[in-house]
Amino acid sequence: MQIVICKTKEEACRKAADVISAAIRGNPRIVLGLATGSTPVGMYRELIADCKAGKVDFSTVRSFNLDEYQGLPPEHDQSYRYFMNANLFDHVNIDKANTRVPPGQAADTAAACAQYEADIKAAGGIDIQVLGIGSDGHIAFNEPGSSLVSRTRLVALTQQTIRDNARFFASEADVPRYAVSMGVGTIMEARKIIMLCFGANKAAAVKAAVEGGISQFCPASALQMHPDAMVFLDEEAAADLALKDFYRSQSCAL
Ligand code: PGA
Repeated sequence: MQIVICKTKEEACRKAADVISAAIRGNPRIVLGLATGSTPVGMYRELIADCKAGKVDFSTVRSFNLDEYQGLPPEHDQSYRYFMNANLFDHVNIDKANTRVPPGQAADTAAACAQYEADIKAAGGIDIQVLGIGSDGHIAFNEPGSSLVSRTRLVALTQQTIRDNARFFASEADVPRYAVSMGVGTIMEARKIIMLCFGANKAAAVKAAVEGGISQFCPASALQMHPDAMVFLDEEAAADLALKDFYRSQSCAL
């Protein structure tokens, strides 16, 4: 893991966007794994600015999102398809036909999940996977207890995640209880991973993911075994890390 501690989340978003923009320039048919939630919004804003400035061209970029709520139609304003359109796809020159979100409304969810995995493979695999982290250490909707070799499947949300996400819905009761999520094993097959973690409420999860033991109790800890995982943190999210100074000395070249 390469730990990049930034003064602010804005700085972290800019640095992460630089990595992605450069990768798109190097490989115009890149396959991006994309994430939702409040964390990556600032980075998407930077990518939109890069696109509008002519620094990056999304016209042949392909993408697969990490997860989708079970049962929410794409036009529901809390569905992750809606989120991606509103926060990135509507503002860059990507072909939406090349953007995929897991099947939250399939008649046969297991078959649709297997097809999603097959489609990722057929696209050549994910080149860069963007991730946030849940306050309980989840990545995508792989909650604590998820197998570290899990694949795309129907999952239940924990009470913690339902509480965390209630801010986006009219009430906690409206938060879907299930989602379709790439597995930890799916995520680990991405060639490069960029995880973004901001704010004091992520500090404990970051500590467990980066400096704790590898365990399905903290699904994000699996990234310790990934050969090319970058973790972009603001000072608040990095607060509990024991080796902060060491990480800073490693990342000063960035
Ligand atoms: P957040 O969610 O970006 O809204 O904090 C992150 C996550 O649950 O992965």
